[in-house]
Formats: sequence, structure tokens, C-alpha cells
Amino acid sequence: VNNRRVRGGLRTQLTLAIAAVAALAVVASFLALYSSTSARLRDQIDAQLNTQAAEWRLFSQGADNSNQAELAQAARRFIVGQRYHAESLIIVFQMNRGGTVSNDPELVRREEARERDSGEATGLLRAPAGLSTQTVAEAGQMRVLTIPLQRGGQQVGTLRVANPLTPVEQAQSSLRRSFLLVGLLAVGVAVAVGLALASVIAAPLRRMARVAAAVEGGNLRERTGPVRARGELRLLADAMDHMLDRLEQTFRRQRDFVSDASHELRTPLTVLRAQVELLDRELDLQRRHEATATLLARIDELDRLVGDLLTLATAEAGQLVVPQEIGLRDFFEDLRRDMPLFGDREFALVPIDGTLHADPDRLTQVLRNLIRNAVTHTKPGDRVLVTATARGELLEIIVSDSGPGIPAEKLEDVFERFHRLDRGRSRASGGSGLGLAIARAITEAHGGRLYAESPPGSGAVFHLELPGYERSVFSPVISD
Ligand SMILES: Nc1ncnc2c1ncn2[C@@H]1O[C@H](COP(=O)(O)OP(=O)(O)OP(=O)(O)O)[C@@H](O)[C@H]1O
Ligand SMILES: [Mg+2]
Repeated sequence: VNNRRVRGGLRTQLTLAIAAVAALAVVASFLALYSSTSARLRDQIDAQLNTQAAEWRLFSQGADNSNQAELAQAARRFIVGQRYHAESLIIVFQMNRGGTVSNDPELVRREEARERDSGEATGLLRAPAGLSTQTVAEAGQMRVLTIPLQRGGQQVGTLRVANPLTPVEQAQSSLRRSFLLVGLLAVGVAVAVGLALASVIAAPLRRMARVAAAVEGGNLRERTGPVRARGELRLLADAMDHMLDRLEQTFRRQRDFVSDASHELRTPLTVLRAQVELLDRELDLQRRHEATATLLARIDELDRLVGDLLTLATAEAGQLVVPQEIGLRDFFEDLRRDMPLFGDREFALVPIDGTLHADPDRLTQVLRNLIRNAVTHTKPGDRVLVTATARGELLEIIVSDSGPGIPAEKLEDVFERFHRLDRGRSRASGGSGLGLAIARAITEAHGGRLYAESPPGSGAVFHLELPGYERSVFSPVISD
């Protein structure tokens, strides 16, 4: 992953693709321009030739030149009258009985000689009637218009008007030259842009690959960091960093949890061991019996701790809750009946009607944890209040007590695993510090929220918010 250039990588592919598209665009526009320019220039030349022929027709109208000598005379006069035309234009009158009249007799003589020597059926003086392209001695490619000269229903000669194709050829070759230049430039620019773009895209991808390799190697601290690219690439890089943050956090929590759990298990195990050793030396049957009872209580405590750890592990795996419709009237009735069993407190419950989409056993577990905590932190005769209210589809259950409350800076800490505000006392009351962590895990598995408040001068207030509430269809509509 570390080598700078990956074979067949993004850089090569992107660059090749952009260069190919640029080259294609240049070639296509070259072909279009080349053919249209050539056609237009050729049309212009042909139009000139046709004009020339028309001028001759106008000039010779009405004249009786069935006589070849008179025709030659007229041709000469015509040519003299055409002096203003471009020098490159060639006019040739070919008499059937031999002899030619031309504005360039020199060229016609050379052409006659060439055509006679070569024996080909082409050339300026052998061009077929109408428009054609001929190779002419020294002048190169020429466009030739050939018109038979008729007199009294008989052909007495041939008029040939010719124009060199050099302007077309020049235009074509200059087009070729400039397009070659433009094409090379375009492909060069395309390659440069492709390389730049590819490195903008490939750099963060390579960095991500490096980070992924580091993660695979067990290093969770590497990050892609800010990338130069925008859009999807930045989203991807950010998402990856975010994911690594979460992973690192989860791994750290997992590690802490395992070490905390081992620590928590070690203390009761040490105590158990000491007590078993004592029991081994105890001879008095009565005291032996008492010691066994304490041992069993410790084992129950351990059993509960292991159960709690298992619940949290299940929550971590996301298999904690199996929701169903709970009828809240019966649910709160059961709770009201159970509350006195927690201790000698002044319990009060404000229930609500309707249904809730939740796991009833887990919800009971949360409420029991909260009520047990309230009881633990109050004295006999103190108040413990459970109130249910609803806002739209949100059910809120508030558990408050008249105990000492929780210091403001500890309001979040109490939800941490194994967190106890007063270690000594809670140890004595058998608390492991997992109750609120489990309650929050269950609440979050329901998509809800659990948080604590502690208004000055009163006890702790726990808010449990759960979605999935529905007002009972049968609940009476209150009207005044
Ligand atoms: N109603 C309350 N009033 C005052 N402090 C509270 C109250 N509820 C919880 N706490 C504090 O928060 C800590 C964490 O509570 P949590 O229920 O998680 O653990 P625990 O009750 O000590 O042990 P466990 O519930 O696992 O038996 C408690 O040790 C206590 O210090
Ligand atoms: Mg508790």
C-alpha cells in the first residue's frame, strides 16, 4: 500500500481516459472543419469557373462565328476583355480543326507536350465535359470546367476554364498543421489535468488505505485527517475517521470494562476464600452453620454481579430488548403492588393510560433499579414518587426521592459502570455500581433517554423518556 504508484491505478486510468477524450474531441472537430472548409473553397472555385463560362456565353451571344477563324477572333477579344481576372485563372479555346487561343499560351504549349508524351487520357486539354479535377504541368491540381462550343448544331471547339486548387491545398495543410499543434497541446493539458486530478483523488484514498492497514495491524490511533478533496471523498475520509473514533472508544470501554469487572470479581472472591478457610477450621456446628449462610449470601451477590455483567454484554451486542405492546394500566397496577416490597417508604404513583411499544421485563428492570436506588438513599418514612406523563408519542416516567440528591458534577458519572459515589456505603448495601449503567443501556436500546437531575434542596430526580407511546383508544375524552 505504501508504494507511491499503484499499477493500473486511478492515476493512470484517469489520465488515459481524459487524454483519450481530448484527442477524440480534437480529431472530431478537425475532421468536421477540414471537410467543410475544403468543400466551401472548392465550391467557390467552381462558382468562379461557372461565372467565367457564363460571361463567355453572354459575350458570344448573337455573334455568327461558325467560321473557325471568326471564333478564334472572338476568343482573343474575349480573353483581352478578361484581363482583370486573377492571373491564376486559365482560359483555353480549343478549335476542332487545331489551334488554341489562351491567356497563357506558354502553359498550354507545355501541357500539350506533356499530354502527348504521357499518353494518358487526362490533363487540362483532355478533361471531359463539365467540372473535373486535373493534374496540369507545373500548375499542379486544377479544377477544370469544360464546355463544348456549338455553332449551327455542330461542335466547332471546346472552351476550358481552369483554376488551381492550391488555395484549397494551402488551407488544408494549414488546418492540418494548426490542428496537430492544438491536438498535441490539448492532449498535453489533458494529461497534466488528469495527473493533478488523480493525485487529488488518489492521495486521500492512499492515506485511507494506509490507515486501514494500520488498523488491521492493531493501531487504532491513525487517522486520515483533513483531505484536500471535496465531496464524496471528504465524506468518506470523515466517515472513516469518525468510525475509527467510535471504534477506539468502544475498544477502550471494552478494555476498561473487562479490567473493572475482573477487579470487582476479585474482591468478593478473596473474601469468599478467606471465609472458606475459616469455615474449614471451624469445629462448632452452630457457628459453622452461620458461616455457611454468609458464604451463600456472598455467592448470591456474586451471582447477581455476573448476571448484571451478562446483561450489559447483551446490550453491547444489541440483543437486549424484545419489544411488544404493553397495556400501561396493568403495567402500573403491578408496579404499585410491588413497590412496598422495596422497603418502608412513603410510595406514591401517578400512572397513565394507553399503550407503549417496549420490552415489559426490561422496562420493569429499569424502574426497579431506579426505585431500589431511591430506597437505598432514603430513610424509612421518606417519600419516593413515580410519575408518568405523555407528550405526543413520548412517554416520560419520573422517579424522584427526598434523599440527599446527587452533586451536580456527578449527574452523568453515576451512569458509568461500577461508579459509586460512596464506595464504602454502597459496598455495605451490596451495590456493584452497575444498576444505572444497565438502566441506561436498556433505555437506549429502546431509542429512549435516561438522565438525572438533582434540584438543590430536594432529592434525586431520574427522567426516563421512551418513544412508542399511544393514547388508549378507550381512554375517556376529558371535556369541560
Ligand atoms: N436516588 C439516588 N440518590 C442519590 N444517589 C444515587 C441515587 N441513585 C444512584 N445514586 C448514586 O449513583 C451510584 C450508581 O448507582 P447504580 O444504581 O448504578 O449503582 P449501585 O446502586 O451502587 O449498585 P447496583 O445498582 O449495581 O446494585 C450509586 O452508587 C449512588 O452513589
Ligand atoms: Mg442501583
